[in-house]
Amino acid sequence: MTMKKPTLVNHPPDASPPPDNRPVVAPIYQTVKFEFDSVDETLRALRAERPGYFYSRSSNPTTRQLELTLAELQGRKDCVVCATGVGVVAQTLLSLTKQGDHVLCFIETYGPSRHLIRRTMARFGVQHTLLSIEDLEGIEQLLTTRPTRLVLFESPTNPINKIADIAAITRLAHAHGALAVLDNTFAGVHQHGEFEVDLYLHSLTKFASGHGDVMGGAAIASEALVRGLRADFTVLGGMLDAHAAFLIQRGLKTYFVRYRTQSATAQRVAEYLVAHPAIERTRYPGLADSPGHALARAQMQEFGAIVSFDLRGGAEAGRRFAEALHLFAMTPSLGSTESLVMPPQLLAPRDLNSEQQRLSGIGPGTVRLSIGLEDPDDLLADIEQALQAAAGA
Ligand SMILES: Cc1ncc(COP(=O)(O)O)c(C=O)c1O
Repeated sequence: MTMKKPTLVNHPPDASPPPDNRPVVAPIYQTVKFEFDSVDETLRALRAERPGYFYSRSSNPTTRQLELTLAELQGRKDCVVCATGVGVVAQTLLSLTKQGDHVLCFIETYGPSRHLIRRTMARFGVQHTLLSIEDLEGIEQLLTTRPTRLVLFESPTNPINKIADIAAITRLAHAHGALAVLDNTFAGVHQHGEFEVDLYLHSLTKFASGHGDVMGGAAIASEALVRGLRADFTVLGGMLDAHAAFLIQRGLKTYFVRYRTQSATAQRVAEYLVAHPAIERTRYPGLADSPGHALARAQMQEFGAIVSFDLRGGAEAGRRFAEALHLFAMTPSLGSTESLVMPPQLLAPRDLNSEQQRLSGIGPGTVRLSIGLEDPDDLLADIEQALQAAAGA
């Protein structure tokens, strides 16, 4: 068909490679829409009677490739991705709960997820109980006495690496008809797959993408559970963009190398800190005398990149330490290739009452490090000089 130029630029020539000439890296399907030649084929695709795509808010080949990869890594049948980690928590809660339902979450639950349950979902009549993740007796008692829709928990927890007993919590949830929902962001997409967890949530902003340049979230579960989530996520609208999906997929290529290297360096840093006189307590799951170490060894192959510790000098020492570091950016997030630090002033869980703050284990001198891919000797030298600066001022 001959076209005038304004028509041509909207219907450009096809330059797709032939079917036997594939791109080695999958292209970014930066398109909102997909078409078929006939109404009937479009309807068949919409009824899932044939493969195909229609509208990228529902699905897109680039995001789908990421979903399939993540489902395999976590050892489940399906996955749906989302624009951010906290977005996947929010959309999951909206999808799985209704007015009058009760949710169990924890003092140690990630702050914005706590806010979602305690404030946002409460406005829709979803009730909750907040316990300590270490209080297995309290968890059992609560689930025995109060019908509960889901238990949302994390392991290791943010920021002080408490280790949840995943098998026990999952067993208790199932014994009382609740879904076990594990925010597995800290452990990563390759760990904890052997447990009977119903639904894994992830912030892909962290280890999965790894480079601190893109945000994303994922819900990974059985086909039936993901089908229900996808139906709601599609209309809630927080889908991941194809370009972000491409960047996360690219990040995953180095995921194992990064996670293992960062874990090994974190172990060295933790061993250095635990022996340091300025430090009262170091929390890293790989440390033999860290609480939860035995459980962590049973549940994890690698212990992650987060090391937290308490400075004897308290909050002001924490401030001086963080400000004196050269190689650690003072900023949130974790799991990226560059090292990060959060001082006590930025970690304090202000929404918790004093008893809950005590149970959280976050003290006035608690500092969180996220260990990156820098040379371990350089990181240790930087930490040493910052500890001296913190003590000397
Ligand atoms: C355990 C956990 N879940 C969820 C999130 C939220 O992820 P995002 O920042 O991608 O929204 C975070 C972010 O720090 C997190 O640590």
